Amino acid sequence: MPEKESPPPVILVTGAGKGIGRAVAEALAAKARGASPGVKLLLAARTAADLEALKARLDGDGVECGIAACDLAEQPLRPLEACLARFGRIDALVHCAGVGRFKDFLEQTPEDLEFTLRTNVTATFLLLQKAYAAMQAQSPRDGLRGQIQVVTSIAAEQPFPQSSTYCLSKYAQRGLLDVMRLYGRQDGIRILEVRPGAAYTPMWGEMPPDQVARMMTAEDIAQPMVDALALSARASIEVITIRPMHGDL
Ligand SMILES: NC(=O)c1ccc[n+]([C@@H]2O[C@H](COP(=O)([O-])OP(=O)(O)OC[C@H]3O[C@@H](n4cnc5c(N)ncnc54)[C@H](OP(=O)(O)O)[C@@H]3O)[C@@H](O)[C@H]2O)c1
Repeated sequence: MPEKESPPPVILVTGAGKGIGRAVAEALAAKARGASPGVKLLLAARTAADLEALKARLDGDGVECGIAACDLAEQPLRPLEACLARFGRIDALVHCAGVGRFKDFLEQTPEDLEFTLRTNVTATFLLLQKAYAAMQAQSPRDGLRGQIQVVTSIAAEQPFPQSSTYCLSKYAQRGLLDVMRLYGRQDGIRILEVRPGAAYTPMWGEMPPDQVARMMTAEDIAQPMVDALALSARASIEVITIRPMHGDL
């Protein structure tokens, strides 16, 4: 009798509207195209139009997508709830949504601090905590109960000027992931921290062409993340640091 085919894995991608998150969603869809068992994606970001455009493209490629347009600072659990309501489980959370306000230390306002910490720290904690709980409660797939990937930054391991609130939030994300990994090893939930250097995305706004030429692309970051999802359950890549070939900007 032929073996029963396993259903497509369900992957929630935050920050899927632009930049690294969108590149991850596109790379996942490209990998699944024509392959069995494919993939189911829940795409989350603030801007509904970005998500609808991406969904239309990926639907056309035969990838089943749901979308959740919301501000994680206001509704940190909404993407997870949408994922579970639509697909009934979550095999991987790829958390790319993040913000930064870059200005000198003495110019950062209480509002800059609050804005950065609400998305990068508080929403990240709440979303990861509930995603972990959902994974812990579900049956394993290919030897894992789930996988969590978070895009932090090289600003989680080294200081940069004009980045006091950003570094604060990224070091905090790194600390959370280090603690979660202690639990994940016991529970079969793989935790990957991705620390990119400069990749040219909408986060950077307008940049001089000579600087852009030195930077990585969102796709450069997305590809190893997608590859890491497919790693055997015997192994865990814990941190990926990716820098521009010719060094930081
Ligand atoms: N690009 C780099 O050089 C670089 C380097 C190191 C680390 N990172 C990190 O990588 C992650 C992704 O950055 P990126 O360069 O891809 O940024 P991006 O191009 O600005 O895209 C960010 C995505 O996240 C979404 N997002 C941001 N805040 C959100 C919130 N509060 N609620 C819901 N969605 C939110 C955005 O949605 P909307 O557009 O709809 O607001 C957008 O889809 C961030 O955590 C960033 O810190 C980036």
